[in-house]
Amino acid sequence: MWGGLATGVPAVRSGTLDGVLLAVVVMLPLAAFEVVNGLPLAAQYLERVRASAARVFAVLDGPEPVRDPDEPAPLPAAPHTVRVTDLRARWTPDGPLALDGVSLDLPPGRRVAVVGPSGSGKTTLASVLLRFLEPSGGHVTLNGADVRDLAADDLRTVIGLCAQDAHLFDSTIGENVRLARRPATDAQIRDALRRARVLDWVESLPSGLDTRVGEHGAQVSGGQRQRIALARALLADFPVLLLDEPAEHLDTETADALTADLLEATEGRTTLLVTHRLAGLDAVDEIVVLDRGRIADRGTHAELAARPGIYRAMWERERAAPAISVS
Ligand SMILES: Nc1ncnc2c1ncn2[C@@H]1O[C@H](COP(=O)(O)OP(=O)(O)OP(=O)(O)O)[C@@H](O)[C@H]1O
Ligand SMILES: [Mg+2]
Repeated sequence: MWGGLATGVPAVRSGTLDGVLLAVVVMLPLAAFEVVNGLPLAAQYLERVRASAARVFAVLDGPEPVRDPDEPAPLPAAPHTVRVTDLRARWTPDGPLALDGVSLDLPPGRRVAVVGPSGSGKTTLASVLLRFLEPSGGHVTLNGADVRDLAADDLRTVIGLCAQDAHLFDSTIGENVRLARRPATDAQIRDALRRARVLDWVESLPSGLDTRVGEHGAQVSGGQRQRIALARALLADFPVLLLDEPAEHLDTETADALTADLLEATEGRTTLLVTHRLAGLDAVDEIVVLDRGRIADRGTHAELAARPGIYRAMWERERAAPAISVS
């Protein structure tokens, strides 16, 4: 700019440059810098965007976990019976079988608990039922129709999940429950919270349903978070409810209280409860004991606790452990 002034002013004086053009000569370098100013920042962003794109393409290029049929069959009408027959499943095409010959029946209103050591295939079973994983043998039927012939989204309106680490969004308690059913009224939300045994606590808060839960529900306790998630699953009113370790990460006292409450809340509803705590399981119709993907034993709590095996060992361990209370 100074250079432009130094050469431009004498040129205007001597009459070789028009006075108006002097402004152009002086301002041009400034304007030119504005054009290239963004380039270093763009170079920085390029690296970041490249890394993000690599992650997105890795997902897009991965194999589709489940394929919807080209012409999905219509969803069978209620009441719904889910039947699992000789089911086998693996997570990778040449990997080991995570489920090997599992069969179970979920007629309307029946409650079945699935227990077993870590890695025995409990979550895998829930994943196949929700069609997040394709079976490699055997089948799952809904009222006799193979679920592979149904659209996965349709199936998930019948079979719903309350997951181990249910996610709460950075919003209010009421909105987090309402996610399950947008048009739900406040009264319906309160009713779901009451069935999840958390309404008294919510109503004791100064802002009630409008209390914010924080990012990932950080401003509520683990037990309260699971109960809000349970209320959401109850409001969704799935005909078949899958609960995967709803009491995981809670101290034993809170875990047993939550299990007792959810067993009460799911009475009469078709439920598959995956759990590692056995307290309260005398309320379910059948307990399936999984071990390395196979059914090691099955029966009622009284039957399983009476005979030697994995279940009795788990039950004795649970009773011998002192209850940890963090209240
Ligand atoms: N997403 C996955 N990808 C690959 N393998 C998996 C995946 N999920 C589970 N597995 C494998 O499948 C087997 C069964 O795991 P699964 O998660 O079903 O066990 P689990 O009974 O739910 O255990 P936990 O009590 O620890 O939750 C394990 O050997 C596990 O390593
Ligand atoms: Mg699991």
